[in-house]
Amino acid sequence: MASAPSLAELGTLVLSTGDPLTKSKLSHLAYSRWRQENLPIGASEPPGRPCSPSQTPIGFPKGNSSSQKLGELLGDGFFADFAHVADDESRHFAWCSQRLAELGFRYGDMPAHNLLWRECEKSADNVTARLAAIPLVQEARGLDAGPRLVQKLIGFGDCRTSNIVARIADEEVAHVAVGVYWFVSVCQKMGCAPCSTFKDLLKEDWYDTSCTNKQDKNGQLSEVYDRLACIISMEKENSSLNKPPQ
Ligand SMILES: [Fe+2]
Repeated sequence: MASAPSLAELGTLVLSTGDPLTKSKLSHLAYSRWRQENLPIGASEPPGRPCSPSQTPIGFPKGNSSSQKLGELLGDGFFADFAHVADDESRHFAWCSQRLAELGFRYGDMPAHNLLWRECEKSADNVTARLAAIPLVQEARGLDAGPRLVQKLIGFGDCRTSNIVARIADEEVAHVAVGVYWFVSVCQKMGCAPCSTFKDLLKEDWYDTSCTNKQDKNGQLSEVYDRLACIISMEKENSSLNKPPQ
């Protein structure tokens, strides 16, 4: 950790770490080090897939990566925003992990879907598709699911867990906002209209809905699209979206 000279290499180190709690702590340390020491974005080749608990930690490969191309296109602000999001996510994991331990469980005891990673793999070479798939669809879904889960947990009498979920849901709002900002910025750089680009991306097959019924799927896509159109129009009224990204 102390020898990694850039944000990209710190990111590779985090992705190469298998133990979930160590990964979470390293994420926070990496973000703190990058900010305090004013490290450059740099370049590094990340592992093909993040190291999971069952895998042995892999090496620390060196090389160039798409971070350079993204840096040229979007500037350091893009990395600063998503490094902040990663720091938030590492804290969310730590809260959930601690609560699971209090309840007698640990990460991996409960079955969970792999949707986020599947969406990441499908959008690996396309930053516009990645922004649409993760913050604008998957994290935006969490904005709906969070408050419902909070109410359920309160109904079960588990206020401690409900407080954790409420805090996470609150911080996820900023993640979706960051996604919208950069999705619109990328579209502007590429000279394409954000709403129609988003709609076209949703029509492509990289977007995995859990719906097998075509009517349900179309309904869900149209709901997501309407939401994005609404968010973009609100952002345009209230923010500096029309200005070029810093
Ligand atoms: Fe998030």
